[in-house]
Amino acid sequence: MDMDRDAVEPRVESFPGERAEKWVEYHRQFGALSTPAYEFVWDLTAGATGPFCTDVDGNVLLDFTSHIASTPLGYNNPALKAKLDAFELPNPTKIAGQSFTASTGGLPESADVPGPSQLMERLVDITDDYGFDTVFLSNTGAEAVENAIKIAYDHRNGASQAITFKGAFHGRTLGALSLNRSKAVHRRDMPELPGVHDVPFCRDRTCMRASCECGFFPTEDGPSQLREILDPKRGYIDPTDLAYIIVEPVQGEGGYRFPSDAFAEELRAVQEEHDVLLIADEIQTGLGRTGEWWGADHYAFEPDVITSAKALQVGATVASRDIFPDEKARISSTWGGGDVLAAMQGALTIDIIQEQDLLANARERGEQLKARLREADPEWITNVRGKGLLVALDFESKDHLEATIRAALDRGLLTLGCGQRSMRLIPPLDVTEREIALGAELLLDAIEESTTEMACLSDPTEVS
Ligand SMILES: Cc1ncc(COP(=O)(O)O)c(C=O)c1O
Repeated sequence: MDMDRDAVEPRVESFPGERAEKWVEYHRQFGALSTPAYEFVWDLTAGATGPFCTDVDGNVLLDFTSHIASTPLGYNNPALKAKLDAFELPNPTKIAGQSFTASTGGLPESADVPGPSQLMERLVDITDDYGFDTVFLSNTGAEAVENAIKIAYDHRNGASQAITFKGAFHGRTLGALSLNRSKAVHRRDMPELPGVHDVPFCRDRTCMRASCECGFFPTEDGPSQLREILDPKRGYIDPTDLAYIIVEPVQGEGGYRFPSDAFAEELRAVQEEHDVLLIADEIQTGLGRTGEWWGADHYAFEPDVITSAKALQVGATVASRDIFPDEKARISSTWGGGDVLAAMQGALTIDIIQEQDLLANARERGEQLKARLREADPEWITNVRGKGLLVALDFESKDHLEATIRAALDRGLLTLGCGQRSMRLIPPLDVTEREIALGAELLLDAIEESTTEMACLSDPTEVS
C-alpha cells in the first residue's frame, strides 16, 4: 500500500491496540524473554515509507529508532526497492558466504547486482583511509566482535591481556560479553575471558585534562588511567602482553556517550607509544550514522580493526591483511555473510549512501534536530548531543525518560532509551527537513506532558 512521504502525518488511535496486544502475546508465548522495547507491531503489508510505518492496528508511526540503527534507509526506500525488485531471488537465498563464491553471471567488475564479494569490496573502499584491504563476513555484530578479538589474539601471538572501557557494550556471545561494562544483567554469572581490564570512558565531550570528572585523567598533570595501567614501572599490564584495546567511538547502549578530543588524543598517543592494536566497534556508530562513514573518523585515534553490523545487514570484521591469520580455517563460518539478500542489501545501502550523499544529509538533519531541541530547551532535559543522526538527550530520572517514551508513542513517535536515563534518536539517514521538524515537535510536546506528569507525581497538589 502506498503512502505519500511528503504528506503523511503520524496518527495514533490507541497504542498498543487490540491486535498489537494479541501479536505480542502470541510472540511471547513462543519467544524466550529478551529485551522487549515496547509493543510496536509493524504491519509488513500496510503503508510504510521513509521513517513512517503503520502498525497492525492502523496507527501511523514516525520511527526515530530505525530498528536500533539497523534500517539506515528507512521503510521501502525506493532506490533500494528498485534495485532489489530487478533481481529475481534465487533459491537457496543463503550460501556459505565467506567460503563460497556466488556470481550473478558475467564478470565481477560488471555484476548487475552485488553479492557478498562486492559487499567486501565496498567495505574495503570505505575503510581506505585506514588502509584496510580485507574483510571477514559473519551474521551479527557479536560475531564481528568475536572475530575481531580472535584475530587480535592470533596476531599478537597469544598475548593474554585486553582493555575495554567502563560503559562498553560489544554483544552477547561469551567473548564479546566479557568486554561489556554497561549493565550487570548482561554478564552476571557468565564465565569470562581472562585478562580483560577496564578503564573509565570519557563521558563528557568537553572534558579536558584539567577539568576531567570522568576519571580518565585522575589528576591535572598526571597520566591517564589508560597510560598508568600500561606503564612499564607503575602499571600492572605488560604492554607486550596486550592483545588489543576495544572501543566504541561513541558508546551506544552505555548511553550515547561522546568522548572528548582529549580522550581521543590520549588513546592515540598510548596506541603509538605501545604499538597497541585498536579495535573500533562501529556496529552502532558506523555506516554513515554519525555523518561520516565511521564514528572513528571524528576522532584522533586510528583503528587497526573495525567491526560493523546492524546497518550493514550482516556482520563484518575489517582490517589489513597482515592482521588476519594466514593459516587456513583459523577463522570460518558457514553462513558468514552468505545471506544473498542481506549482503546485497548491505552493498546497495553503501551505494545509496554514496549516490544520495546521505553523509551530508545526516550531518545537516542532525544539526537541525539538535538546534530545535536546544532552542526549545525544555526544563529538566539536559545534554542534547549528537554527531550526524546519532542524537541523544538526558532526563533527570529514568522514570521521566520512560514517561516521555510513552508520551511520544501516544503521539506516534518511536524513540528508544539507552544508558541510565538517556533517550536516543536514530532517524533514517535520508530523513527530510519536514520529518525532523515533525519529530522534534512531537518530542517536545511529549516532554511537556511527561514533565507535568512527573511534577504531579512528586507533588500531587500541583495538578493544574
Ligand atoms: C556497539 C555494539 N557492538 C555489538 C553489538 C552486538 O550486535 P548484535 O546484536 O548484532 O550481535 C551491538 C548491538 O547493539 C552494539 O551496539
